[in-house]
Amino acid sequence: MDDGTAPARGTGDMPAEEFRRYGHILVERIARYLEDVERSPVLSRAQPGDIRASLPRAAPRTGEDMATILADFDDKILPGITHWNHPGFMAYFAITGSGPGILGELLTAGLNVNGMLWRSSPAVTELEEVTLDWLRQLLGLPEPLFGEITDTASSSTLYALAAAREFAAIDIHQRGVGAQRLRVYCSAEAHSSVDKAVITLGLGSDGLRHVPVDERFRMRADLLESAIADDKAAGIRPLAVVATVGTTGTTSIDPVAKISAICEREGMWLHVDASYAGVAAIVPEKRYVLAGVERAHSLVVNPHKWLFVPIDCSVLYTREPAALKAAFALPLEILYTPEAGVTNLMDYGMSLGRRFRSLKLWFVLRYFGADGIVARLREHMRLAQIVARWAEESDAFELCAPVELSTVVFRYNPPGLAPPEADAANAKLLKLVNESGEVFLSGTRVRGSQVLRLAIGNLRTTERHVLRAMELLEQTAKGL
Ligand SMILES: Cc1ncc(COP(=O)(O)O)c(C=O)c1O
Repeated sequence: MDDGTAPARGTGDMPAEEFRRYGHILVERIARYLEDVERSPVLSRAQPGDIRASLPRAAPRTGEDMATILADFDDKILPGITHWNHPGFMAYFAITGSGPGILGELLTAGLNVNGMLWRSSPAVTELEEVTLDWLRQLLGLPEPLFGEITDTASSSTLYALAAAREFAAIDIHQRGVGAQRLRVYCSAEAHSSVDKAVITLGLGSDGLRHVPVDERFRMRADLLESAIADDKAAGIRPLAVVATVGTTGTTSIDPVAKISAICEREGMWLHVDASYAGVAAIVPEKRYVLAGVERAHSLVVNPHKWLFVPIDCSVLYTREPAALKAAFALPLEILYTPEAGVTNLMDYGMSLGRRFRSLKLWFVLRYFGADGIVARLREHMRLAQIVARWAEESDAFELCAPVELSTVVFRYNPPGLAPPEADAANAKLLKLVNESGEVFLSGTRVRGSQVLRLAIGNLRTTERHVLRAMELLEQTAKGL
């Protein structure tokens, strides 16, 4: 068949006419998908292995036409999708692939440039510099602040701790990790990406100390101080603290100002993981979440979490770019670049190649504007307060952590239920509510108890969806 839809013959790419035709079809399909996503079950009902079993075991020998490929996408791939775009998606940290963000991604794919060096696409480097400076201003952080986009907060934190080691003048480049015992500190509520980074950097899991938290799940600065003193007395060198602004479990905010004073006194690097909650500082009445961060050495904020930028887009800021460069830059003849006074972003991280991620961030910041972003973040926090009040006022549910942002931690705990029964009831409630296909919540443990987490971060989630989630929880709990 050669009606313009047949796979490209010969040696070239897909013909432009065919690309145009399917491009239009796909944009239309994505628009319809986003309009109708609520009709699909939010949590995929696929069983392990289902998707793999539906697919051929080897790639086709001859090319296939796009119509067949798209039909297989519908029949075989979509059933295995958990719809993060669904308004009932309230698990983990809910995110948004916003319209302007998706369009930015499309252009990024179309251009397919690699911004490893300034000259390998000057706009990649310079738009990254400009958008990250815009974001810095929105976050209320002072200049100078070097920023770069990475894939995830996990990479950003790994890079920050690698920079911390250079900052401490430990000669990693030539001599490797060596015999010196180093310690990193974070709270007991910090994300596991800190553990991974410390292990990856060769410090071992013993190289990380989890400092206990207070009644609001914030790192105890007094216990941090005593842990540092104990380590020094034992001959261990305190290297860095990772403070969290918006912990994964309860979105608690560590006392960054107090922690930064300790770090300054001890000559330690302070990295702040604000990957979820940092963007809240764009909202004037929430600016306090980043209080003290101006004294940190590095900070991670993820626009792909709560700033409507499609995954992936994490921003690493540092006041010490020379330390970051010392961790990663190597002189490579093939990548010699004659331009002076430019930034070559490959020098600031592990990967050489880099996607044009700032384009989608630029689209999102321009399309919504600062006021539009503030309005949307405020709305998410208002919805979270509705859920928080409901849990507080309910006889059967209780609120398990303060709600300052857009995530609510609560549990089913009617009078007379013993702790082990309450745990089992919450686990069952979570399972049943998620099986409804209308909402997807996640669970975690808080102070040893099984709890439920409802996170709002999706632009398609409205009050109607939040009310329905509460109704479902109540109805399902009654039937337990
Ligand atoms: C506080 C915190 N830090 C880091 C991460 C890791 O984020 P990423 O998936 O971007 O690596 C998460 C993930 O949810 C998180 O909640």
